[in-house]
Amino acid sequence: MSDQNSSNVVFTVAPGGSLNGEGRVPGDKSMSHRSIMLGSLAEGITEVSGFLEGEDSLATLKAFKAMGVTIEGPVNGQVRVHGVGLHGLKQPEKPLYLGNSGTSMRLMSGLLAGQSFNTTLTGDKSLSSRPMRRVIDPLLQMKASIAAAQNGTSPLQIQGGQKLQAIQYTLPVASAQVKSCILLAGLYADGKTCVTEPAPTRDHTERMLQGFGYEIMRDDATVCLRGGGTLKATQIDVPSDISSAAFFMVGASIADGSDVTLKHVGVNPTRTGVIDILKLMGADIALSNLHEVGGEPVADIRIRSSKLQGIDIPTDLVPLAIDEFPAIFVAAACAEGQTVLRDAKELRVKESDRIQVMADGLQILGISAEPTEDGIVIQGGNLGSGTVVSHGDHRISMSFAMAALRSSGQIVIEDCANVDTSFPGFVDLAARMGLQIN
Ligand code: S3P
Repeated sequence: MSDQNSSNVVFTVAPGGSLNGEGRVPGDKSMSHRSIMLGSLAEGITEVSGFLEGEDSLATLKAFKAMGVTIEGPVNGQVRVHGVGLHGLKQPEKPLYLGNSGTSMRLMSGLLAGQSFNTTLTGDKSLSSRPMRRVIDPLLQMKASIAAAQNGTSPLQIQGGQKLQAIQYTLPVASAQVKSCILLAGLYADGKTCVTEPAPTRDHTERMLQGFGYEIMRDDATVCLRGGGTLKATQIDVPSDISSAAFFMVGASIADGSDVTLKHVGVNPTRTGVIDILKLMGADIALSNLHEVGGEPVADIRIRSSKLQGIDIPTDLVPLAIDEFPAIFVAAACAEGQTVLRDAKELRVKESDRIQVMADGLQILGISAEPTEDGIVIQGGNLGSGTVVSHGDHRISMSFAMAALRSSGQIVIEDCANVDTSFPGFVDLAARMGLQIN
């Protein structure tokens, strides 16, 4: 999404109603990015289905096309990636513009550090303000040549032709993007690269590398790989994104008379914190048809309305629900009593400062929501009406849209164009299920 038009979409959501019916939310964003990256570096043709046709994953797709990879599609979520092998990418003619997508920038910085050519990575206003030192520091230890703007933000300048060295790295923050960045650089490094994480984070890179026939060594909190192998093309069925499903889980939980089934949702245990947290609050969520697709667990999820209670969110669940907190805060606003979140400072450096932006919006709607340094305290109450600003953050927009199911008056949400980064078709699906959204 370009900066010019990111602010001209406004959601107007009428109060009340319920969510009902069966639906499928779009493909998983994290897996869609990785399918293009690993498919491009593989030998042979990788066929992807269920690919997320959102701005973020399309930014990754365009970047690999610009580096000479033939990619057919997406057509109805089908993509064919003609892999060029680990050393077959070509120098792009221009800087690679990655829009709003932190995953593209952080993962690609590792992979590009191992190429023979130079690249520049740029992004929109939000991405250009997000911290990149977290990838630059380990990459410099690997003897990469990478530089950021003075304050550690993009544009990133990466000089190719460096001989990367394997490292053993302990992540200072739990981040799947940083872990994946180092592992992707590790494909090009001499020796065995290992990453140890302070808490489990999504492991799609590890699982997908294995799906491409690459040996991954995992032991507790440490994952390792040796450089110099090859990736063999494969087929990837991307399940629906649990992060997109989360808005409907919250919406159906808070709105009386709701009964929603979401089909074929990825339920990798490193992503299911939102289900655990909502269940602790008293949500009625049931998984069925649990099976594995291409090394990733998938299930249908049924959500029925329930009476939610405020809770102290267990801190070990924070990295497992890291993208779902805007929606969880709406659930907390509709719950009885107080909800407390701690140890979630990372929320301040997402597509927006999600603690501050959510607190501001909830307060406008009449809820007591007090930001703390690393979390928030929310008192459940009655949602009123008002105009909230999403700051161009897709997940803030969709969370406040769901809040209208329990508000006394209309909620207007400004700056919603970036919903297309992760959830094209949100308005249509939400309206079909009963949200009164324009
Ligand atoms: C992602 C990792 C998470 C998450 C992001 C996607 C990934 O970021 O918030 O939306 O695909 O690896 P962090 O690594 O910054 O926690």
